[in-house]
Amino acid sequence: MGSLSRDDHGTHWAHSELGEVVVSAKEIADRVHELGRQISHDYAQRPPLLVCVLKGAVNFMADLMRAIELPVEIDFMAVSSYGAATKTSGVVRIVKDLDVDLVNRDVLIVEDVVDSGLTLNYLRQYLGARNPRTLDVCALLVKEGEQRVEQSLKYVGFTIPADFVVGYGLDVNERYRNLDAIYTFVGEA
Ligand code: IMP
Ligand code: MG
Repeated sequence: MGSLSRDDHGTHWAHSELGEVVVSAKEIADRVHELGRQISHDYAQRPPLLVCVLKGAVNFMADLMRAIELPVEIDFMAVSSYGAATKTSGVVRIVKDLDVDLVNRDVLIVEDVVDSGLTLNYLRQYLGARNPRTLDVCALLVKEGEQRVEQSLKYVGFTIPADFVVGYGLDVNERYRNLDAIYTFVGEA
């Protein structure tokens, strides 16, 4: 008998609120390894400081850093944006700031999803003011056609339709971060 794929398995507890698989666990794993290889190559002479944007990027960060074959350093920041559960207002509040100095560092922001781009735009300005040598972005997901702020993203995992998604770090009201694939959310937010 064929075995169930991981995406079909073990999601019964979330089932009624999950729609289509947008990115499978296997697709994520393969892409994260490609990104890791690319980053290892691009930063070979100057290992980056990876800045994980909590909480959504935590799964991605954990996998990505292990796919990079360089002595990277990591740090975390937490931001919260005011607004409804499924839309950002663009007004960002820093909930936890970095512990390390960015002067002359090669900083790579590790983000879960770029939707309007407002959160990232804010973060870029905020961190850019601390004089890193370079400041770039690795985003797992970019929503198609949604960016209100022009972004240059050095690394992108997947471009996805504009639907609200959950899983692999992404939440709705703090739930479903622990799914290992990315699904459309079809419940009530
Ligand atoms: P932006 O400021 O509109 O680009 O939104 C970015 C932030 O909103 C992300 O870092 C997520 O925390 C959240 N977000 C945007 N789209 C989604 C989604 O589809 N699922 C879960 N969170 C999302
Ligand atoms: Mg986020």
